[in-house]
Amino acid sequence: MSFGVAACAVGGQTDLTPQWSADEARAIAAWPGRQPTGKLDPEVEARIARIVGGMTLEQKIGQITQPDIRYITPDQVREYYIGTILNGGGAWPGMNKHARLEDWTGLAGQYAAAALSTDMAVKVPIIWGIDAVHGNNNVVGATIFPHNIGLGAAHDPALIERIGRSTARSVRATGIGWAFAPTLAVVQNQRWGRSYESYSSDPALVAANGAALVRGLQGSLTGDGDVIASAKHFVGDGGTHLGVDQGENRASARDFVSLHGAGYYTALDADVQTVMISYNSWTMGGTVPFGKIHGSRALVTGVLKQRLGFDGLVVSDWNAIEQVPGCRKDHCPQAINAGIDVFMVPEDWKAFIANTVADVREGRVPMARIDDAVTRVLRVKFRTGLFDRPLAAGRHTGDAAALVDRPLAQEAVRKSAVLLKNDKAALPLKAGKRILVVGDAADSFVKQAGGWSITWQGDETDNRDYPVGETMLAGLKRVYGDGNVTWSADGSAFAPGRFDAVVAVIGEPPYAEMKGDVPFPQLLSYSARFPADLALLDRVAGKGVPVVTLLYSGRTLYATDLINRSDAFVAGFLPGTEAGALADLFAGTGGLDFTARLSFAWPNTPCPSGGEPAGESLFARGFGLSYDRARQTGRLNEVAGLKSCR
Ligand code: GLC
Repeated sequence: MSFGVAACAVGGQTDLTPQWSADEARAIAAWPGRQPTGKLDPEVEARIARIVGGMTLEQKIGQITQPDIRYITPDQVREYYIGTILNGGGAWPGMNKHARLEDWTGLAGQYAAAALSTDMAVKVPIIWGIDAVHGNNNVVGATIFPHNIGLGAAHDPALIERIGRSTARSVRATGIGWAFAPTLAVVQNQRWGRSYESYSSDPALVAANGAALVRGLQGSLTGDGDVIASAKHFVGDGGTHLGVDQGENRASARDFVSLHGAGYYTALDADVQTVMISYNSWTMGGTVPFGKIHGSRALVTGVLKQRLGFDGLVVSDWNAIEQVPGCRKDHCPQAINAGIDVFMVPEDWKAFIANTVADVREGRVPMARIDDAVTRVLRVKFRTGLFDRPLAAGRHTGDAAALVDRPLAQEAVRKSAVLLKNDKAALPLKAGKRILVVGDAADSFVKQAGGWSITWQGDETDNRDYPVGETMLAGLKRVYGDGNVTWSADGSAFAPGRFDAVVAVIGEPPYAEMKGDVPFPQLLSYSARFPADLALLDRVAGKGVPVVTLLYSGRTLYATDLINRSDAFVAGFLPGTEAGALADLFAGTGGLDFTARLSFAWPNTPCPSGGEPAGESLFARGFGLSYDRARQTGRLNEVAGLKSCR
């Protein structure tokens, strides 16, 4: 069964009017229509048409090709007329993890100069995109905010907007003008390795927070502290079967729109300038093989561009076009004809350019489609003022102070940690208490930051890569005094009577994307995956000393056994570089109290079925305790003896 467009080039003239199949028409009609956000500026559109009219085919294809900085030089930017570049996670100027700010701005300046020194009749400025998904997280020394799973628990879109402003400023400090954020996934199964990139399983909360981040990042689009944003990943990334990354979304047409599409309405209303397409496929309730979104003209053109009126640019994901049947990562006319405008082809971009030039010359891709793509790229660049004022002229460019925003990050950390249990008022821990801190995560920037931090996976880093920020151990020492805080990662220093309380800080090792998936039928249970931490709690629990457990995790997951071994239990999620701010919350300094409420349900089973059915919730979405809303939890029923979820 093939879908698609009856685009055929007869003598160069092309009828792009798509002939929707009945299923495609049904899928498109399921999306409430919306009008384009802004009117097109006739003068700008005329300028764009003149520029496009004067471009060669090679110049046009270069403009819509997006290599990764690891695989392209400034000279090649000029030679191949490249319009946009990116660095995926784990790429830095000169591949130096500790690249200095001037290395970032220097490389940005080289790319900018190269783009403006082509032999094009009208030079077109270049734009560089980066995964600044929780602050400018690729850059050593930059403040890294909590990941979205925690920010969702803050239920505070205004905070998200302020984080967007701060992040945009930090990105502009490096000379970069495009952030691949927000993620608008509405995650239905926490097995997914990207669950922490999602604000919530509630589409309304995702929609509110996503739009807030777009407003924060983009500002007025032309300001020195503005970057363009990417609503991603269109559409249905958080709803794949069994939470498999890049897998199959089987939602009905109605759920596909109301659940997974919700964030796109508000992001487009917030005037987001780019949308990134999702790796997953869709099968409309499991009955219609729409296939990979990157190859679906019905969804990219029919829904996003026509039904929703999106007039910015659509970018593919990292080599995602190779997953479209019949395509390779360097050749995919289907994805171009589907309506994608910019192609993230990190390594094989030269071959992509050559193959796409041939596609147009040989009639597999209409020139009109290429012109539409180039027009959209130029439109976005004009909207940002890039033709009039280079990014380098921005007042934040090269400003190291713009990389750091500790107070805002500390506020976000305290607003995103959820108090799930607090029996016998174990918290707050008053000043003067003698505290034993156990658990390796207590002094680990790596575990508190999670994936997409300095590197793609957040691994291959250690505390030396985080010169700015505070671990929980440092925070506790700051609040209670060095003399009152003893750290014993393995708990061996524990002795009843020596301490007034134990603070156990445990957490998942970092991960990103498919490497973070917990594949079915594995148990989605913290202690099944990390038994040493359960043993650590056994060492200190029930010995007459209150145990306060802080868990860093990129997902909600079965932890009833850990909770039963804790008098107080805090879901810290992935707080970023300022995790130490939780120490003030633990002390109740200045009246500080927990305000966060879960934005995902917390499971009572190691085998959640997805979709958060009420019977599987230990704590429902919206749950969270505070000092002035205490309650006794007592012992919870544990699920024992399961070896797998089959
Ligand atoms: C990744 C992710 C996407 C990211 C892109 C560039 O595979 O799916 O979210 O923006 O590649 O790093």
